[in-house]
Amino acid sequence: MERRTIGAGGLAVGAVGLGCMPMSWAYSGSRQRGDESLRTVHRALDLGSTLLDTADMYGPFTNELLLGRVLKERRADAFVSTKAGLLVGEQHIVANGRPGYVKRACDASLRRLQTDVIDLYQLHRADPEIPIEETWGAMAELVRAGKVRALGLCAVGARAGRRSGTRLHDTTLRQLQRVQQVFPVSAVQAELSVWSPEALDALLPWCAARGVGFLAAMPLGNGFLTGTLTPGEGFERDDLRARHPRFTAEMMAANQPIVAGLRRVAGRHGEDVTAAQVALAWVLAQGRHVIALPGTKQKRWAEENAAAAALGLTAQDLAEVSRLPGAQGSWD
Ligand SMILES: NC(=O)c1ccc[n+]([C@@H]2O[C@H](COP(=O)([O-])OP(=O)(O)OC[C@H]3O[C@@H](n4cnc5c(N)ncnc54)[C@H](OP(=O)(O)O)[C@@H]3O)[C@@H](O)[C@H]2O)c1
Repeated sequence: MERRTIGAGGLAVGAVGLGCMPMSWAYSGSRQRGDESLRTVHRALDLGSTLLDTADMYGPFTNELLLGRVLKERRADAFVSTKAGLLVGEQHIVANGRPGYVKRACDASLRRLQTDVIDLYQLHRADPEIPIEETWGAMAELVRAGKVRALGLCAVGARAGRRSGTRLHDTTLRQLQRVQQVFPVSAVQAELSVWSPEALDALLPWCAARGVGFLAAMPLGNGFLTGTLTPGEGFERDDLRARHPRFTAEMMAANQPIVAGLRRVAGRHGEDVTAAQVALAWVLAQGRHVIALPGTKQKRWAEENAAAAALGLTAQDLAEVSRLPGAQGSWD
């Protein structure tokens, strides 16, 4: 698989990574497929999808434990990217950016992941109660202590951005400028997909100008862009899409022209090429600093997604995808 480098230190990873969240969190059936999840991680590594993206809150904790079972045997094959800063409570999720907490969280992640170093340690969300420089300073100490190789920041979500009345990602850009004064940012993680292209406006150029990697989360639109979901079929209660405004039967039907457009482009590249692969190739075409992080707990999807790294879209394909109708259904 094509390798791309992120951050000033030139960390090399496969262009398509593996989002591990669906193995333990946020999607139906997450908790029932442990063995298939393990097979998926092994297969992804075999195919060069070296970046394994997790977080302490996925599960919580069980996603890191699962990855630890693979890393114990194959640490050298993987680039481990995890996150801290969000605590899962009974009813809601809260940020904790206290320096002492972040350091303890890192030690706990290292134990669960069965490794002595995390390749990329990301701040999942800034804590509104703690100046972000203090949290970032503690994370920088983890690099100096040899527990972490590089630092990353996750963008604040669409809802938070809109609530504060700013342009989406303005808050993240301000946070990035502040933490850069303390210690270099190696990667930014944020949503980027054909139906959520907002990061192209300012966040992606910010990263490109500074040699910062961009980790594209939710590149398959939570599965919608693969064309394998049927409008009206519904989602289990524990699936994030059961409450997601773009996943009502009405909105899924209204957004079908986007899937049809991806299928049209796929068809020009061969019978076996899928809408999911075109969606990922479009993400990868947005810059050499972009890594796509499709999430899956299924080996067959990890194989299909890894193959997207070799799908070269033409200028005509890219223009056609960019002209597809914007997504209907707000995030709020
Ligand atoms: N930093 C953050 O705040 C943040 C937020 C969200 C996500 N992320 C990261 O980004 C990663 C990706 O996001 P995501 O997993 O939520 O969304 P995604 O990658 O857009 O979509 C995942 C969904 O697509 C399905 N899928 C994957 N490949 C497929 C294929 N080739 N054909 C058909 N269906 C396919 C998966 O099914 P199965 O589950 O059945 O495999 C899963 O339901 C996460 O795993 C996580 O690491 C980070």
